[in-house]
Amino acid sequence: MIARLITWLDERLPTEGVIKKELLRHVFPDHWSFMLGEIALYCFIALVVTGTWLGFFFHPSNMEYVYHGPYQPLQGVKVSQAYASLLNLSLSVPLGLLMRQTHHWACLVFLAAIICHMMRIFFTGAFRRPREINWIIGTTLLVLAMLEGYLGYSMGDDLLSGVGLRIGDSVALAIPVVGAYLSYLIFGGEFPTPWVADRLFFLHVFLFPAVIAGLIGFHLLNVLIQKHTQFPGKGKTEDNVVGSPMWPNYALKSLALGVATFAVLFALGGLTQINPIWQYGPYHPQDNLSPDQPDWYLGWLIGALRLAWPYDLHVLNHTIPEPFWPAVFMPAALFGFVYLWPWIEKILTGDDRRHELLDYPREAPLRVGVGVTVLTFVILLELAGSDDIQSNLMHISVEKLVEIYQWAAFLVPPVAGFIGFKIASELRARAHIGDEVKPARVVLVRNAAGGYDEEAARSV
Ligand code: HEM
Repeated sequence: MIARLITWLDERLPTEGVIKKELLRHVFPDHWSFMLGEIALYCFIALVVTGTWLGFFFHPSNMEYVYHGPYQPLQGVKVSQAYASLLNLSLSVPLGLLMRQTHHWACLVFLAAIICHMMRIFFTGAFRRPREINWIIGTTLLVLAMLEGYLGYSMGDDLLSGVGLRIGDSVALAIPVVGAYLSYLIFGGEFPTPWVADRLFFLHVFLFPAVIAGLIGFHLLNVLIQKHTQFPGKGKTEDNVVGSPMWPNYALKSLALGVATFAVLFALGGLTQINPIWQYGPYHPQDNLSPDQPDWYLGWLIGALRLAWPYDLHVLNHTIPEPFWPAVFMPAALFGFVYLWPWIEKILTGDDRRHELLDYPREAPLRVGVGVTVLTFVILLELAGSDDIQSNLMHISVEKLVEIYQWAAFLVPPVAGFIGFKIASELRARAHIGDEVKPARVVLVRNAAGGYDEEAARSV
């Protein structure tokens, strides 16, 4: 039946049989780590589905009124329509809480899947020629996904997200020369303005999802046209792809993964409370709460802000205030390094060849060392982002913890990177014991021009 449908479509669409000849017969190499990108894809689909549902009930307005809804503790409190509509969604609308929590969990899992996918790509060298563009698109997708998450949970106008928006505004204001204009552009005046929710809503439900969807489409098209890389092994070369065809094997496997991803997300949404805005209360600038943490994928930025030294720089009548270094300069430098990594590695290794076969991480100790250094640095910042909770749990003062993390953020990453480099080098040496005793035999073969070419002797 599927085959007849495809033939029917191929005849009537300008595909000239591509669906049947190319797409359905496209070969995908089999490895569990190649499913990480798919999990990210299915999380995005879950976000669009649950988000669309939420959009019917969310009122993107900062207009305030006295609350008289079902939630007793907030009776008589001034709240915005945005906050009240989320309370209503969570406490009164059938399936409201399930959809809201599933949407939030899908965002947390989405970012985790993207980062795991990216680590797979990095440590196996799948970013190398000809996939540099997909690396750039991917890194952009990571940045956009983090911002989209921030926009999403900032729309609720609850105390936690309000504080987060205030921090976001301070970071924008910290950018020298253009900061104040940028803040006005984003918020339409001095934060908080009466139209914050409108603007966040437009960005969160239209602009960002459209750009992300477009980039994912281009990303996957690249994977299809370039063919997927594969791990080295028997019968696998730089010129072939060994695996299962798109239809039925790969498509059904991927579909099953999609259903499983949805099942996990809805189970999380139904069983695990997340972002209980009724406990935080509405956002009023004079209020604040501690401890307060953003969603995990922004924890490293808050950690960097908490570790920064209170130091303003004055240059040419301009002040570069303290938040600029941890929240603008550091992330820009970090992502700049990530964006440029394919070219940095090319310069370091002198290897500009096309690579269809992946590396096992041990084959590139330098890459492992760099990756471990960067990951350790980000993880330490992430930990520093919850210093207030750790202080409560370990009865150590926040000041002491900040000092410890400040030193750790500089000393630990290079040490961890060196250990990673050493372990990979050792594993590579062990994996290639005995390789060198069999020198490759080369034969000279007459070519058409009458010259000679070197050719590896075929082992008989
Ligand atoms: C919304 C985010 C993303 C989605 C939905 C996504 C989806 C996918 C899928 C489904 C594949 C093919 C299967 C696989 O190898 O996992 C893939 C491949 C690829 N992705 Fe992503 N990806 C995302 C983000 C990223 C990021 C952050 C990077 C790197 C910075 C990246 C770089 C690549 C590369 C280079 C390939 C080709 C892999 C190969 O041929 O081995 N992607 N992506």
